[in-house]
Amino acid sequence: MAKKMEKMRVDLEVITDQHKKFKLMADTNANELKVVDIRETSSMMEAQIIIGRTGEREKLLASLSESVTGGMTILPIYGIGGLGKTTLAKMVYNSNQFKDYSQVWVYVPQIFDLKKIGNSVISQLSEKESRYTGVQMIQSSLSKLLADKKIFIVLDDLWEDMESHLDSLKAMLRVGKGSKVVVIVTTRDEGIAKKMSTIEPHKLAPLTGDMCWSIIEQKCDFESRLDKEELEQIGMEITMKYKGVALAAQSLGHMLHSVTFGEWESVRNSHIWDVSTAEEAPSTHVLASLRLSYSVMPPYLKLCFAYCATFPKGCKIVKDDLIHQWVSLGFVEPPDVFSSWQL
Ligand SMILES: Nc1ncnc2c1ncn2[C@@H]1O[C@H](COP(=O)(O)OP(=O)(O)O)[C@@H](O)[C@H]1O
Ligand SMILES: [Mg+2]
Repeated sequence: MAKKMEKMRVDLEVITDQHKKFKLMADTNANELKVVDIRETSSMMEAQIIIGRTGEREKLLASLSESVTGGMTILPIYGIGGLGKTTLAKMVYNSNQFKDYSQVWVYVPQIFDLKKIGNSVISQLSEKESRYTGVQMIQSSLSKLLADKKIFIVLDDLWEDMESHLDSLKAMLRVGKGSKVVVIVTTRDEGIAKKMSTIEPHKLAPLTGDMCWSIIEQKCDFESRLDKEELEQIGMEITMKYKGVALAAQSLGHMLHSVTFGEWESVRNSHIWDVSTAEEAPSTHVLASLRLSYSVMPPYLKLCFAYCATFPKGCKIVKDDLIHQWVSLGFVEPPDVFSSWQL
């Protein structure tokens, strides 16, 4: 043991020496990784075709126009991730019914921050960046901005379920005297929807098989395929296996783009689908379809992709740094430019 410790001491001295020689400094910013939420949304409609959902949009608009009498109306839309909540909220936001309202779109970060939400509403209403640090200032600024106004707010992707926080959020938006505030909240959680609502929350329906097939067709550019007649049947069978979730349909569509007839067949025959039926657990099916995209990757790509799991959620990944890391770990061959660096 004494000998071992002696050797360890020598090794440590060498390491300390190298540490000094190479000027390795402890990174004091290690805990302050720049977190930029990649899921951030805005009210802008992307140039893509929305399949269905018009009936639901009309229903929401009707129930809002019935219940908006003054004060605050909150209508939550809930359903699992990728189902299309944000998309439906955008459809309502961009409809003519609220054109004479001041409109605000708040993407709610996963870690609840009342001040951030308040500042975001103030910034959008006053068209000036607001960075109040105290709740009192936020409240008084909001009560001036909201007074006697008609305001339409979307709170997109609310995760917070603590009742006291949700109550503070509602109280913060209720401060304007004589105002009419209409709020749409999107959330994955039925409980949050119920806690926030002032009128019946809307449970978003899954998309039908035909709707999902339309999304897949769009994303895999089905119309331009020469073998589309043979593929259609397989495509429908794949769709029927998981149908319901727009995001899953999108990822499948991307995956099926420019792959061969045989690969479509192997997707159809994949055991990943056997987990359960869409009715039982649609969320498992979203995962299944995303897992499928992973399983068809070549092994080297799987390694590269899986390595990304070492980054914290929401972390902005710098592309060039990531490539350097892949190279140094031996996941990908270095391009020629690297070999000249080593000389
Ligand atoms: N009805 C639809 N037709 C076509 N694409 C859709 C539809 N609904 C959602 N999408 C697409 O599916 C993805 C997930 O939808 P999103 O609204 O962000 O889901 P959620 O907010 O429920 O997580 C988005 O890229 C969106 O554009
Ligand atoms: Mg969303």
